[in-house]
Amino acid sequence: MSFTLVQQAPARLNRSELAVPGSNYEFMEKAAKSEADVVFLDLEDAVAPDDKVQARKNIVKALNEIDFGKKTLSVRINGLDTHYMYRDVIDVIEQGGERLDLIMIPKVGTPADVYAVDMLITQAEDAVGRKKKIGLELIIETALGMANINEIARSSKRLESLHFGVADYAASTRARTTVIGGPNRMYGVLTDKEGDAARDFHWGDMWHYAIARIVVAARANGLRPCDGPFGDFKDPEGFKAQAYRAAVLGCEGKWAIHPSQIALANEVYSPSEAEVTKAKRILEAMAQAQKEGKGAVALDGRLIDIASIRQAEVLVAKARQIAGA
Ligand code: GLV
Ligand code: MG
Repeated sequence: MSFTLVQQAPARLNRSELAVPGSNYEFMEKAAKSEADVVFLDLEDAVAPDDKVQARKNIVKALNEIDFGKKTLSVRINGLDTHYMYRDVIDVIEQGGERLDLIMIPKVGTPADVYAVDMLITQAEDAVGRKKKIGLELIIETALGMANINEIARSSKRLESLHFGVADYAASTRARTTVIGGPNRMYGVLTDKEGDAARDFHWGDMWHYAIARIVVAARANGLRPCDGPFGDFKDPEGFKAQAYRAAVLGCEGKWAIHPSQIALANEVYSPSEAEVTKAKRILEAMAQAQKEGKGAVALDGRLIDIASIRQAEVLVAKARQIAGA
């Protein structure tokens, strides 16, 4: 291990994160009864400019009146380039009581963006004597944010998670797509010519780099990496395939932009019984190996060693966290 120890953000389940427009109070009431681990009430892109003020009022009312149970509750504020953002922060903190857990900052481009919001939150919290400190979720969804991701990921003690905002990221990088998440038929590999044999075309994942980059920056700083939206809510298989790709790379969860995506995300991001059983067997086998003074042994015909213990512990800890939720 490095001599530098990575401080972990508070452990929260973040398998599914439901986006709910602040302009619709009824959706917020429904979200409270859903199975989502995290609910974020949106003031940003799901709310039209003319509805921003009313949406803010709705969210303040929801924070005071709706029982969100044990869910983690977040509010996505408007971007720092708008005149809505400061009042979003001030109103939800000054008028929203103690219930709010997190604030989500969209389109973070530099560490100074986080610093500015942190300062505003700190002042508002102090002014009302808030007891619970608000954490921050950041959306990485611009080329600037991706370029500065390492510095952004260590820009505040309030940080808890980094999210991949695939739609804005595509716009910012001028990627050739108009859908939200998922693969692109133009992004693939055509196998070489071999005589007259038919050539295969393998679709690739155009988001692989971005997600892997976010996972590394988040994990290096003890934050949760989380995959963002998948727009085609009538394609559960497509959602799950995208969610599995991100889960395999290390993400903790995925957004749900429609209630039907919550169960899918919870399923993908909960380790299966078979995975947990296998992880427990690895821990048992390694405990036995260590008693015998061995650093590595074979289990089911494959080598396992001390690194396998760490992998297995991650899975078992996640299963315990879910069971205790
Ligand atoms: C989310 O905010 C996105 O842009 O995908
Ligand atoms: Mg966005």
